[in-house]
Amino acid sequence: MKIVVLTGAGISAESGLGTFRDDNGIWSKIDLSEVATMDGFIRNPAKVHEFYNARRTGVLEAKPNIAHDALARLEAAEHVELAVVTQNIDDLHERAGSKNVLHMHGSILLAKCASCNRTWDAPREMHPDDDCPFCHKRTTRPDVVWFGEIPYWMDEIHELLARAELFASIGTSGQVYPAAGFAEIARDHGAPTIALNLDRSDVSPIVDQFVVGPATSIVPEWVEGILRG
Ligand code: OAD
Repeated sequence: MKIVVLTGAGISAESGLGTFRDDNGIWSKIDLSEVATMDGFIRNPAKVHEFYNARRTGVLEAKPNIAHDALARLEAAEHVELAVVTQNIDDLHERAGSKNVLHMHGSILLAKCASCNRTWDAPREMHPDDDCPFCHKRTTRPDVVWFGEIPYWMDEIHELLARAELFASIGTSGQVYPAAGFAEIARDHGAPTIALNLDRSDVSPIVDQFVVGPATSIVPEWVEGILRG
């Protein structure tokens, strides 16, 4: 069975990484236009690096939880062809053992040059006066997708959605496009759709089934159900 799972910040919440739009979420503490847009970066690169340096440290210190583990188990099952499309910039899916992961919003563990577009492993801390190791310009940034930029892997994701026999979203509010439209695309191609989330999100009216609860309890249960067949 071909399964596409879209994950958002909610799957990493119980690993200690903050979500964006919950009470106390990241966007309640800092204006996203300052740290998640190119304009913000041009205005104050030091502030943007400081924000992502702190998030990189958080990711390096976090561990995958049993929801990440369950998705890795699902991918390893013989009758399953699973692709995880994640909006998360952490590497917790990979550390749990998932191999087929598309990071549509990039990765906090990679650096990118805004001039030559090449990428490399990010140091723990990035600074505005860092040199690009390739073109040597001082235009290095985290390899994350900001608002106003085109997410990565869009052609591959559309192909996956068109072929999906089951689509699931996990831990996403469904407020950010294009990811928020994936359930509808999969449904229009005939796939049953399910959303697993702590509370009713913007995805819930679109999907066939909605499961409410913390990812560490509902995701392993959902995966075991599929594995039992
Ligand atoms: P949000 O913070 O918008 O939504 C997280 C969702 O996870 C909410 O619906 C929560 O109810 C749910 N949630 C929280 N804890 C949970 C738990 N323990 N188990 C299950 N669900 C839980 O995060 P995203 O939808 O991922 O983009 O946000 C999408 C994008 O918006 C992000 O990738 C980021 C952000 O701005 C960029 O920065 C470009």
